[in-house]
Amino acid sequence: MWKRFFSRQARRPSGLFGRFVSRVIFDKGNQPLNTLMLEVMAPQPGQAVLEIGFGCGSVIKSVADAVGGGRVEGIDFSDAMMDVARKRNRHHIEAGRVVLTHGDFDAASYAQSAFDTVCSANTIYFWPDPAATCSRIHSVLKPGGRVVLAFVDKSKMDSMPLDMDIFRPMAAGTVAGLLEAAGFSAVETRSVPDNAAMLCVAGRK
Ligand SMILES: C[S@@+](CC[C@H](N)C(=O)[O-])C[C@H]1O[C@@H](n2cnc3c(N)ncnc32)[C@H](O)[C@@H]1O
Repeated sequence: MWKRFFSRQARRPSGLFGRFVSRVIFDKGNQPLNTLMLEVMAPQPGQAVLEIGFGCGSVIKSVADAVGGGRVEGIDFSDAMMDVARKRNRHHIEAGRVVLTHGDFDAASYAQSAFDTVCSANTIYFWPDPAATCSRIHSVLKPGGRVVLAFVDKSKMDSMPLDMDIFRPMAAGTVAGLLEAAGFSAVETRSVPDNAAMLCVAGRK
């Protein structure tokens, strides 16, 4: 019962528990993976970046700090995370540098070739049709744009007390194969230096 409750909250945080979980787990526990994702993305001034499933919005803030006159968008289908991320990015939102959308990326209507980078950390386990989502990411990227997906490897996730009806753990090779099948090239995998199970798979359109 706890496993199911926790797994549901991880997929889509809600209420007070969601807000608490986000601060303790997303901000602290996911920090090494989010740091790796930022390193791999290496956001540059003027770029347009989209994050899928921004959680409490720490990556959005770091990217907005880095892209200067660029544009940072985020989409997340959790009310609780919208509130937390909005507060954290209030200044960037008011200045028009960050746009946060409440919704499901799979149903969103982003223009084709709109972004230089699309990133997402710890969401791929929940995608109902990962191949279709990777194709959508490919379509919203500019030619030459990059996708960066960060996640904990299946070898580690399989031993964690999670509800596997909600989580679908992914291996690095599976994610790399999904990106190649969606049309990405130069697909590469990197891990957190002292934690080989924390991975980033990136590719170029
Ligand atoms: C486990 S949390 C990860 C949060 C953050 N990326 C991190 O690594 O700390 C998953 C987040 O993705 C959001 N999410 C999952 N699938 C999504 C989708 N298809 N569209 C939008 N948001 C999604 C959830 O609401 C939640 O905030």
